Amino acid sequence: MSKFPSDKPVLVTCGLPYVNGKAHIGHLRTYIPADIFVRSMKKQEQEVVFVCGSDTHGTPIVVNAEQLNTTPGELVRKYHKHFDNTFKKMNVNFDAFGTTDDPENHNRTLDIVSKLIEKGYTYPKTIEIAYCPGCKRFLPDRYVQGICPHCGETARGDECDQGCEKHLESGELKDPKCIVCGENAEYREQEHFFFKLSEFRDFLLEYLENLEGTSNARNYAIGWVKQELMDWCITRNLDWGVKFPGHDKLVVYVWVDAPIGYIAFTEEWAEANNGDWEKFWKGDGRIIHFIGGDITYHHCIFWPAMLKGAGYSQPWAVVASGMVKIEDKTFSKSRGYVVWVGEDYLDHGFHPDLLRYYLVSYTSHTKELNFSWKVFQKKINTELVAVFGNFLYRTLLFAHRNFGEIPVGEIEQDVLDNIDSTIAKVNEAMEQYEFKKAVDFAMALASYGNVYFQSKQPWKLIKEDKAACGKVVANCIQIAKALAILFEPVLPQKMEEAWAQIGMSSDIHVTTYRDATVLVNSGTTLVEPVTLFEKIQDDKIESMVNISNTRVAEALAKESGTKEIEVKDMETEKEKEKIIENENEINKINEEITFDDFSKLDIRIGIVVTAEPVKKSNKLMRLEVDIGEETPRQLVAGIKETHDPEQLIGRQVVVLANLKPAKLCGVESKGMVLAGDIDGAVLLMPEKNVEAGTRVR
Ligand code: MSP
Ligand code: ZN
Repeated sequence: MSKFPSDKPVLVTCGLPYVNGKAHIGHLRTYIPADIFVRSMKKQEQEVVFVCGSDTHGTPIVVNAEQLNTTPGELVRKYHKHFDNTFKKMNVNFDAFGTTDDPENHNRTLDIVSKLIEKGYTYPKTIEIAYCPGCKRFLPDRYVQGICPHCGETARGDECDQGCEKHLESGELKDPKCIVCGENAEYREQEHFFFKLSEFRDFLLEYLENLEGTSNARNYAIGWVKQELMDWCITRNLDWGVKFPGHDKLVVYVWVDAPIGYIAFTEEWAEANNGDWEKFWKGDGRIIHFIGGDITYHHCIFWPAMLKGAGYSQPWAVVASGMVKIEDKTFSKSRGYVVWVGEDYLDHGFHPDLLRYYLVSYTSHTKELNFSWKVFQKKINTELVAVFGNFLYRTLLFAHRNFGEIPVGEIEQDVLDNIDSTIAKVNEAMEQYEFKKAVDFAMALASYGNVYFQSKQPWKLIKEDKAACGKVVANCIQIAKALAILFEPVLPQKMEEAWAQIGMSSDIHVTTYRDATVLVNSGTTLVEPVTLFEKIQDDKIESMVNISNTRVAEALAKESGTKEIEVKDMETEKEKEKIIENENEINKINEEITFDDFSKLDIRIGIVVTAEPVKKSNKLMRLEVDIGEETPRQLVAGIKETHDPEQLIGRQVVVLANLKPAKLCGVESKGMVLAGDIDGAVLLMPEKNVEAGTRVR
């Protein structure tokens, strides 16, 4: 039996973004499928509320703010705005988008934690916490760096992030150092509070058996519960966060107040819309969490146990996506395998709907998703442009040219049946969170439309039998109408345009799947259509690939730079200042440029024709280099100490040809010979001999 629409209202939430950095494509794999799911629920006439908000607490944010010389409040405000804007631009439409620092969340967290304390689900325990005598403070989680007790790699306080990836309990890290001042930290005993997760074993086993959503989430969680459940330390020594009741110097662990945000944002939605938040959190409304697979433990184990303990309703479903990879490499900001939603996508003029399409049509939701510019281009060009766009455009152009309106004509039963069965299949796929299947079914209807148009040959019919031709066109427009409705969840903005092109004046976002078989109105005026999807050209994709390659190369360069710095390591305060200076230096060199910036450089292969030392100088050599122009270029290079004129003549070099001319020791230099600067100049040279003047790109 189908699960939707149901009398029970649905609440959809998304894993809250940490607002300490920019939005990237990895994030979107949580938000876009969720938005598509919500839009589809609405089309199925399911009552649904969609909430999210920014995750503003936790040590990464405090550490980041400190390093950027700002306050956590300033930092999270900035990125909260950024995420909010990004979601709007990507057409992800939350009914509420708050922050975990909102008073609603402070209050709700206080309520839940107090209930847990009251019911005896927490207990105090004295544990060892790293303490920095220099900064005179306790060092939670990422404030401390040291050696992993399991693998010996450098690790931070809560996780062996560079080695074995094991979770570390407070006190486990060896040789702890304060990341702020570099001083050796010491372990001091302090009382903290623990949540008795271990007491929820039986509850969880039963709960998880019935948990809806994707099977990966459920199966992993069951496996973990069967192994061993550890109690969680739920307090931290920080100022920034939600205060732990009765303890001024402690805040709750970020994974306590972050999911409670889901409740707070539902309250915010209810306040603004005269809605009822309790029907979800205290009643039997269905709560569906969309998350990435990386936070399954928190959502399937810790969170339901906490809700149960405090007397709240638990999630009905957890939908966990596979992780996003970039060009077949594990997602990594530090290694440069990242695609930023703003500067790498929207700012280059790509339409938001195309990325939405890619993210759900690439593979099944629970599998890893690879983002590759070439695959992106191919999918857009061969699917959206060649199949769907082609059907809409040829239908509407033909209709506009020959009829100027939707012609009269009976809609065939076969066409209506096909639309109905497509809707049924799309719904079934959506219910199973199989978004790829859903778009593939919708796309199959577009293919059916193309075949229908092609086989009926309206371009012939128009000359022989205008009425018969009109009927074909009317049927095609009916298919187009159904397609617009079916694709609205995935391509909301583009389908708004399509809707207008087929002469509809209503709001497509509130249409339902039932509207798809409501017959089109003959006589409706049709405007001249424009193509909805443009082919993405090769050079555009090449420039995007270049940007991402450059980013990876720079990250590599930077990494080798930082490695050196780490070896020297935090000896003295002065040493550290120098290190920071160095780091800045490296950052400066690596500052990003666009491909456009790069293409301003005219770099060519040249052949040295003449070489003679500049007399007045110790360093300079005068060269004449053939770079494919009528006469050789005169260049001056700082290579006198490292090169003999004889060894230079006849060899190939790389020249920046459009550098503004300059006089060096009275000799004019029109360009620059490129060299690596290691121990003196090391001239660059092509791999094999090429023609003088060959461009370097
Ligand atoms: N703040 C936590 C979630 C708290 S929920 C109570 C968090 N934030 S996040 O910014 O790191 O991630 C936000 C969402 O994006 C999460 O659902 C996360 O799983 C998802 N993703 C972030 N990077 C991702 C990939 N590279 N791939 C797929 N999804 C990932 O986690
Ligand atoms: Zn310190």
